[in-house]
Amino acid sequence: MNILVTGGAGYIGSHTCLSLMEEGHDICVVDNLSNSKETPLKRIQEITGRRLQFYRIDLTQKASLVQVFEDRRFDAVIHFAGLKAVGESVLVPLAYYSNNIVGSLVLFELMDAYGVKNIVFSSSATVYGEPEKVPIKESFPVCPANPYGRTKLHIEHILRDLFAADRKWNIAILRYFNPVGAHPSGMIGEDPNDIPNNLMPFISQVAVGKQQELFVYGNDYPTHDGTGVRDYIHVMDLAHGHAYALNKLGEAPGLVTYNLGTGKGFSVLEMVSAFEKVSGKPVPYKIVSRREGDIATCYADPSLAEKELDWKAKLGINEMCEDTWRWQKKNPDGYI
Ligand code: NAD
Ligand code: UD1
Repeated sequence: MNILVTGGAGYIGSHTCLSLMEEGHDICVVDNLSNSKETPLKRIQEITGRRLQFYRIDLTQKASLVQVFEDRRFDAVIHFAGLKAVGESVLVPLAYYSNNIVGSLVLFELMDAYGVKNIVFSSSATVYGEPEKVPIKESFPVCPANPYGRTKLHIEHILRDLFAADRKWNIAILRYFNPVGAHPSGMIGEDPNDIPNNLMPFISQVAVGKQQELFVYGNDYPTHDGTGVRDYIHVMDLAHGHAYALNKLGEAPGLVTYNLGTGKGFSVLEMVSAFEKVSGKPVPYKIVSRREGDIATCYADPSLAEKELDWKAKLGINEMCEDTWRWQKKNPDGYI
């Protein structure tokens, strides 16, 4: 297939491009590199021995994006591009609405105009907000608690309205849980700017000596050890999930929504101890107060994806820690 991947230079996008290229698909990446570098795209080509096409374009710039659709004919689009930092979205909501929603609108308008009506969209477990119970099913109410999450939900609504108006669209909305890990080569991985917000990159930076200690945000949650519980999913499992979603689009399913998670929850302290075991490095930590907006427990019921996509996460917490550690050791300063 000829696939347009927006945000393909980013963390999840780069792993997905690699996996799709290994399966023989032709990939064209559009990314403005606002939160990434071109290096992973070069490395993907080294690993696979295949070429991909790259346009450094901002999705909100319609005139530039038109050129991509003029140059190439696509069978499907995977739409990763967007800003994703929850805290930042609270501080600069307009930047988030503008980038994520306007960028998506421009993309959908051009897809419509050029007759490309197959799309996989990166949504997030964040759309569920604080769930009433776990595991979380796709049918649960949605109520995102921050501007970032609301941009994801708005884009889901836009896609639903688009499908309601024109049944020729085939749309897979994927709600990811907590992506972690890296490609087993250690050549591509997650490369956060500045100090990481998320747990796994923070732990690995402590282990490699870039951060002194981890701050554990609260040990008084109603969980087995008091720390927050999440559904961590290996980024390669997630990447493969996109290939299964593309296959599903080939069956013309209309609009489908799936949780991509493992269905298992691990606490912060369990992640710390798994990482210490795998890396052989101590991860000193200090318990501090809860982070505003955090919830106690969040994990997926991934059975719908298993039933309808025939996809299931295969990699466990050890592979997640091993691959993160290999990437961190090989690239202590990220992509340079
Ligand atoms: P990322 O920041 O690494 O990748 C996003 C990419 O989009 C970056 O390369 C960035 O430069 C690009 N981009 C942003 N705005 C753009 C624009 N206007 N035009 C062109 N390119 C633009 O993030 P990621 O972790 O790979 O996440 C990918 C997608 O998955 C995002 O939509 C994110 O909201 C969603 N998601 C991520 C997580 C997570 O924890 N990583 C969880 C759930 C959902
Ligand atoms: C975050 C985002 C969420 C996004 C998800 C997927 C927030 C509030 N939410 O969720 O929108 O979909 O990532 O990547 O940012 N923790 C620490 N110390 C740290 C970092 C985290 O104790 O330095 C704890 C958190 O309190 C939480 C767990 O680790 O219990 C996971 O945190 P994180 O990796 O930031 O992911 P989420 O909060 O689940």
